[in-house]
Amino acid sequence: METKRDTFSGKLGFVFAAAGSAVGLGNLWRFPYLAAKYGGGIFILVYLILAVTLGFTLMITEIAIGRKTGLSAAGAFQKLDKRFGFVGALGCVVPFIITPYYCVIGGWVVKYLVTFITGQVGQAAADSYFGDFIAKPAEPVIWFAIYVILTAAVVIIGVQKGIEKASTILMPILVVLILVICGFCVTRPGAMEGVKYYLLPDFSAFSATTILAAMGQLFYSMSLAMGIMITYGSYMKKDTDLRGSVRQIELFDTLVAFLAGLMIVPSVFVFSGGSEEALNKGPSLMFVTLPKVFESMKLGGIIGAAFFILVLFAALTSSISLLETNVSMVCDKLHWSRKKATVIVAVYILVLGAIVSLGFGPLDFVKILGLGLLDFFDFLSNSVLMPIVALLTCICIGYFVKPKAICDEVEINKPFKEKKFYIFMLKYAAPVCLVLILIFAVSEAMGWIKV
Ligand code: TRP
Repeated sequence: METKRDTFSGKLGFVFAAAGSAVGLGNLWRFPYLAAKYGGGIFILVYLILAVTLGFTLMITEIAIGRKTGLSAAGAFQKLDKRFGFVGALGCVVPFIITPYYCVIGGWVVKYLVTFITGQVGQAAADSYFGDFIAKPAEPVIWFAIYVILTAAVVIIGVQKGIEKASTILMPILVVLILVICGFCVTRPGAMEGVKYYLLPDFSAFSATTILAAMGQLFYSMSLAMGIMITYGSYMKKDTDLRGSVRQIELFDTLVAFLAGLMIVPSVFVFSGGSEEALNKGPSLMFVTLPKVFESMKLGGIIGAAFFILVLFAALTSSISLLETNVSMVCDKLHWSRKKATVIVAVYILVLGAIVSLGFGPLDFVKILGLGLLDFFDFLSNSVLMPIVALLTCICIGYFVKPKAICDEVEINKPFKEKKFYIFMLKYAAPVCLVLILIFAVSEAMGWIKV
C-alpha cells in the first residue's frame, strides 16, 4: 500500500524548512571567505545577479519537478523522461562528497565553542591558534568524530521534527546576533575601509574566476543541483505559492550570507589590515578573524560562545539533512534498515572526513590537481558535478520535457510573472553559462590556463 506523502503545513512552513537546510556553514563560513578573496563588492554583485537569474531558474525548476512528480530526485527524472534518470542519480552523488568535509568544518565549530565556553578567548584570538589546531594529527579528527556522531544520533533517533521547530526559533536569534556583532565590527576604527571593500564593486578585480566562485557558492548555499530541492518540492502542497516561496528562500539565504560577510570582512581590515594575505585566508577566515573581534568586545567570551552555539546549530540542521539525504538514498537502493544505513554511511563519512582533516596536518603534502584535500572535494562538487547536473536539468526540462510542464506547475495557484524570462534562461542563457563555466573550471584545474 502506498502511504500518503507528508506535506509541509503551508507556505511559511515550507519556506522555513527549506531555509533551515539552506542556511548553514555555506552562508556563515564559506560565503565570507570567498567574498574576501574574490574582491569583495564585485563578488557580491556577481553573486546577486546570479542568484536572481540562474539561482531563481534552477530552484523553481527543481521544486516544481518535485511537486509535479511527488518523488525525490532519482525517481523524479525517471518519471519525467526515462533517458534522464541518470541525472537524478548523478545529483545524488554530490551529498556524498560534501558531507564528509562539511562535518570536518562542523568539528572546528565544536572545538571553538568549547574554547569559548571554557573561557580561553585570549588563546583563541592568538594568530597561530587555528593553524596549530588544524595541523595536529589527532585533535581535529576527534572533534570531527564528535560532530559526526552528534549528527548521526539525531538521524537515528529521528528528532528532525524537533530540529525543524527549534530552527524556526534559533535562526532569527542567529540573525539578531549577527546584526549585533556586525554593528560592533563596522564601528571599529579602520572598519570603513573594509565596508567599502565589501560593498563597492571594483571592476578591475573581475575575472572569470569570480563568476566560477560565485556560481559554485550559489549551488552550495542554496542546496541546488543535488536533488535536495526536488525532494523538498515533493513535500510541498499544491496550493502553496511556489514562485513566492522560491523568492523568499533566496532572499533569506542571501541575507544571512551577506550579513555574515559584513561581520567578517570589515573585521579583517580592523584586526589584520586589508592586506591581500589577510583577505586570502580561505577556509580559516572565520576561525582566525572572529575570535579577535570577540576578544576586543566587552563580554566577548559570552558573545563568542553564543555565536558559536548558533553557528553549530545552523551547521547541524544542514548536516542532518545532508546525512538524511545520503541515508534515504542508500535505503532506497539497497533496502537496508534505516539504522544500518545510517551507521554505515556515518562510517564512510568518518573515514573520508578524517582523511580530509589530516590533509591540513600529516597529509598536507597530498595535492590533487594542485589543491589540498578539502579544496579538492569542494572543487569537485561545486565547480564540476553541480554545474553538470544543473546543465543536464536545463536540457532535460528545456528541450525534452518542455518548460511548459514547469510553468503549468508554478501557475496552479499564482501567475508566473517571469515566465518568458524563465523560459529564455532555462533554454538558452543558463546552458550557455554552465557550459562556459565547466570549460573554465576544468581548464583551470588542469593548469591549461592561469588566473
Ligand atoms: N546549503 C547548505 C549551507 O549553506 C549546505 C548544503 C549543501 C546542504 N547541500 C545541502 C544542506 C543539502 C542540506 C542539504 O551550508
